[in-house]
Amino acid sequence: MTQYVAAVDQGTTSTRCMVFDHSGRVVAADQVEHRQIMPRAGWVEHDPAEIWENVRRVTAAALAKADLVTEDVVTVGITNQRETTVVWDRATGKPIHNAVVWQDTRTDATCRKLGALGGGQERYRPRTGLPLATYFSGPKIRWILDNVEGAAERAEAGELAFGTMDTWVLWNLTGGPHGGVHVTDPTNASRTLLMDLDSLSWDEEICADMGVPPSVLPEIRSSSEVYGKARGRGPLSGLPVSGILGDQQAATFGQACLSPGEAKNTYGTGNFVLLNTGTEKVMSENGLLTTVCYQLGDQPPVYALEGSIAVTGSLVQWLRDNLGIIRSAGEIEELAGSVDDNGGTYFVPAFSGLFAPHWRSDARGAIVGLTRYVNRGHLARAVLEATAFQTREVIDAMNADSGVPLKSLKVDGGMVVNELLMQFQADILNVPVIRPVVNETTALGAAYAAGLAVGFWSGPDDIRANWAKDREWTPRMDEAHREEQYANWKKAVTRTFDWAR
Ligand code: G3P
Repeated sequence: MTQYVAAVDQGTTSTRCMVFDHSGRVVAADQVEHRQIMPRAGWVEHDPAEIWENVRRVTAAALAKADLVTEDVVTVGITNQRETTVVWDRATGKPIHNAVVWQDTRTDATCRKLGALGGGQERYRPRTGLPLATYFSGPKIRWILDNVEGAAERAEAGELAFGTMDTWVLWNLTGGPHGGVHVTDPTNASRTLLMDLDSLSWDEEICADMGVPPSVLPEIRSSSEVYGKARGRGPLSGLPVSGILGDQQAATFGQACLSPGEAKNTYGTGNFVLLNTGTEKVMSENGLLTTVCYQLGDQPPVYALEGSIAVTGSLVQWLRDNLGIIRSAGEIEELAGSVDDNGGTYFVPAFSGLFAPHWRSDARGAIVGLTRYVNRGHLARAVLEATAFQTREVIDAMNADSGVPLKSLKVDGGMVVNELLMQFQADILNVPVIRPVVNETTALGAAYAAGLAVGFWSGPDDIRANWAKDREWTPRMDEAHREEQYANWKKAVTRTFDWAR
């Protein structure tokens, strides 16, 4: 009997369930979006109860679509939007506040206060690999404990639990208040600003600095092992849950970037470039993050350098939803193709400040270079080009940190269907851009982590053998033109600084 592995991908805008066969092919999928709650400028929240309900819906629907039953599935993996923070009541399983999303900037003052204790933005980098920034979970936990009545005391008393979305989904999947497993993996824990990168354990001093009681924290287990069994009435009930990877690390895994020096770029809500650095932890001097790439069972952890870009695909959504210039995200390619170039326009989408390599929470978005000549097509083009220019910034930083220039870039995610963008990306980076046949690398990576734990796949060679190239774009822009445009972009970026302070 053919068997499969299911993966739950709890992302920033939607939740999916995908089922894969042994060759890494998608045999079933379902997806549903959730609400983006924006109570004020710079704040972004999700409703964790809505998200859990969506997990139940998409798992049932995905299996039903392919006529699969529980016995057809061997195991389940989880992947997730990282950093997004949920705090819930251990007794009832009810969240005490909406989830505070990774894009949310409400902890800016807290981050600055912590930096002022000494070391500034770099205070925790030697231990965590991260700058002090609103992006990460630790300060978000503190914000919830400070702003929900009685929460700080209840946390001290051991009544509350914290989790990133992997932990929230796993807790509910394995039984919620009736015996739910409270676990995370090192890829997610490494995004909290609370985990020591060497020991893969919570750093007590940082937790104390940030006012996060250790009793709220989940246990850190590897990315690939059996954490528990799914319970309840859904079709996954009774199956082991045996893989957890943050979504960007999962995509790195799904792209088979399993050797040092291999990198991928995922074009989602934001863009995330990850370079596998092996068991060596490379500390960035150029604004990148050092993060855990994966840890399989009791093997040593593999690390990555990461360039995180907050706004790329979500800028296309913004053009659609907030300006109404396009009706669907897919329309942007045709509109951008209606003009020959950007008409001198550059759009720096610093909606959540700027992440890598700048880490400027004081930055806000700007469109520069406008003249009366500029039309909707130029604006659409500037939106797409912003993704490629931001990617160039983090690849430049990566080349400087690693000392070895990247020779090609594997890409995946929603925007890689956009030919115009992919060609422009190859042009601006001056390296080939390669898209795999299975573009669903995030869910696939989580399936691999889960399947490896139960012997469904035997090891990295199985995963490498499943990876196949679909399409490659080679650079064709001349050097002078490329560098002129990139210089303009860098000038545009400086125009966004010092705005929100
Ligand atoms: O760090 C945030 C990242 O994990 C979000 O990814 O794909 O949900 O935009 P995505």
